Amino acid sequence: MWHLIKAYFSFIVKSTNQHDVHSPFVYDLVTKCFYNNKKQEAYTTLSAYKNQLLDNHDHIKVSDFGAGSRVFKSDKRKVSAIAKNAGISLKRGQLLNRLVKYLNATAILELGTSVGIGTAAMAIDNKEVKITTVEGCPETAKVAKNHFNSFHLDHIKLINDTFENALPTLTDQIFDIVYVDGNHQKEATLRYFNQLLKHRHNNTVFIFDDIHWSAEMEAAWKTIKKHPEVSVTIDTFQWGFVFFRKEQVKEDFVIRI
Ligand SMILES: C[S@@+](CC[C@H](N)C(=O)[O-])C[C@H]1O[C@@H](n2cnc3c(N)ncnc32)[C@H](O)[C@@H]1O
Repeated sequence: MWHLIKAYFSFIVKSTNQHDVHSPFVYDLVTKCFYNNKKQEAYTTLSAYKNQLLDNHDHIKVSDFGAGSRVFKSDKRKVSAIAKNAGISLKRGQLLNRLVKYLNATAILELGTSVGIGTAAMAIDNKEVKITTVEGCPETAKVAKNHFNSFHLDHIKLINDTFENALPTLTDQIFDIVYVDGNHQKEATLRYFNQLLKHRHNNTVFIFDDIHWSAEMEAAWKTIKKHPEVSVTIDTFQWGFVFFRKEQVKEDFVIRI
């Protein structure tokens, strides 16, 4: 926790808004997508999706993967509590929804479905997009699947398996957005990053969640930023965006959203 507080202060000192951004690509992304606060119809459906989960007080038995939880002490958890603590905020969900549209994404991969708030955020009103999402815990995956069905999000393919088993089955699929939100450990994050490299094209974006969550994740983020195939990175504190666009000068941005 101490690490997170220190990291946040450092982020506040280093971060800027669009005014210090001289790259046209990043400037447009920040002003037209990150900072676009025009209300969208999809946001209403996304709120309904999250509210339905927050109203679900069933208990499920959760199998923990990766770095585990700082909030939950038991494996018996209420769906509503999972939605509140593990699921992304509506603000972040809205940003994911905009990003799919802004990048004209048609193929998305998410590692870490949980109860599907992030997945639904990318899927709602984006019917032409094919989303593959991977969740290791069977009972959590079942809750997500039921909610996708009740919102008719049938363009989501949910793989109930570990990331380790699922990644090799993706063979030669190419994705426009890859959202990595599970198993926040250095070695695993870097392993996924390296495995995912072959599933990208020049304009693909990788999004890593919780890049400042621990000293380990901080170290993983530093290594990713230095990778020779990475051109632009954007640190927004919770998420790290990684671009591979060959036409960009290598540059690391720190942006408040
Ligand atoms: C933080 S939650 C995902 C939140 C979700 N992406 C969202 O936006 O609402 C992380 C999920 O990843 C799953 N997970 C973590 N490590 C995993 C692994 N190695 N294989 C499969 N699932 C894993 C956990 O079970 C958990 O449900």
